[in-house]
Amino acid sequence: MLSAIGNTPLIELGKLIPDARFRVFAKMERFNPAGSVKDRTALNMLIDLVRRGRLSPDRSVVVESSSGNLGVGLAQVCRYFGLRFVCVVDARTTERNLAMLQAYGAEVEVVTEPDRSTGEFLAARLRRVRDLVATIPYAYWPNQYGNALNPAAHQNTMREIAEALHGRVDYLFSAVSTTGTMHGCSDYIRAHRMTTDVIAVDAVGSRIFGDTVGPRLIPGHGAGVRPALADTAHADDAVFVSDLECVVECRRLLHREAVLAGGSSGATVAALQKTAYRIPDGATCVLIFPDGGDRYLDTIYSDEWVATHFGDVAHLWREAPQVAPLVAG
Ligand SMILES: Cc1ncc(COP(=O)(O)O)c(C=O)c1O
Repeated sequence: MLSAIGNTPLIELGKLIPDARFRVFAKMERFNPAGSVKDRTALNMLIDLVRRGRLSPDRSVVVESSSGNLGVGLAQVCRYFGLRFVCVVDARTTERNLAMLQAYGAEVEVVTEPDRSTGEFLAARLRRVRDLVATIPYAYWPNQYGNALNPAAHQNTMREIAEALHGRVDYLFSAVSTTGTMHGCSDYIRAHRMTTDVIAVDAVGSRIFGDTVGPRLIPGHGAGVRPALADTAHADDAVFVSDLECVVECRRLLHREAVLAGGSSGATVAALQKTAYRIPDGATCVLIFPDGGDRYLDTIYSDEWVATHFGDVAHLWREAPQVAPLVAG
């Protein structure tokens, strides 16, 4: 199963921006076996320790904070190696993610109260992780927010993109949370003297590239606390995307390209739209799509949820039907 991680498809989005004079590709990370870009991170953070016998099924316990994709990715890798895995999640974790974690055999610890001083769940989850690591014998905390093996996993992501496009990538759009994906890609770009501009796609209300924390509805990208990895992550520019912009671009992506993508994928499309005016003719742009829309059917793809949070906005992505008739025969 683990050999199926990586080598995800790169697809061209030819219909997304009808008059574009540049090409747009998407790296489809949902095709990793546990469904997201975080399969790569999970595997890379554990594989060497398992090979060197530093993590063993009879005694080691992996403990990590994640309310989403990394938790599922780690649950898969730990299941494969027979390692015990305790995943610290919070009250906002979806039923579906909890069910997936449990199906893979992870033990789930739920943090119900946000941190008192910051009001953020992340800080409260990290505190619980530290407590567990201090009390469980042979506990190991991979710490995705500070572990150099997280970005290192994504040098492969960028190598695959560069090879598929014969080294011709002018812009790379990467949604950020730990910044691991973007960090690893930009490390590869610099090591191989590529001229690619790296655009960090952050959320409005995130502390990674922004100054003030605000409420965010869509999980995946953005963070309430600036991660340690961000200090060494290179970005040429950062673009902030709102929850509504994510929803609109996800729904448009589905409508125009039949791509059912996750919220942060929609965020990269929104960032592309915001920067399109300065992308030169003939350029090649790559968007990393971290996960699939099947994890967001109750939110982004639910008309009811969208109406509750944003009102009547469907006209923003619904378009007039195509006038050209289908050719019969
Ligand atoms: C859906 C989704 N998008 C984007 C990201 C951001 O990736 P990174 O942590 O590598 O910055 C994550 C991270 O968990 C994610 O789950």
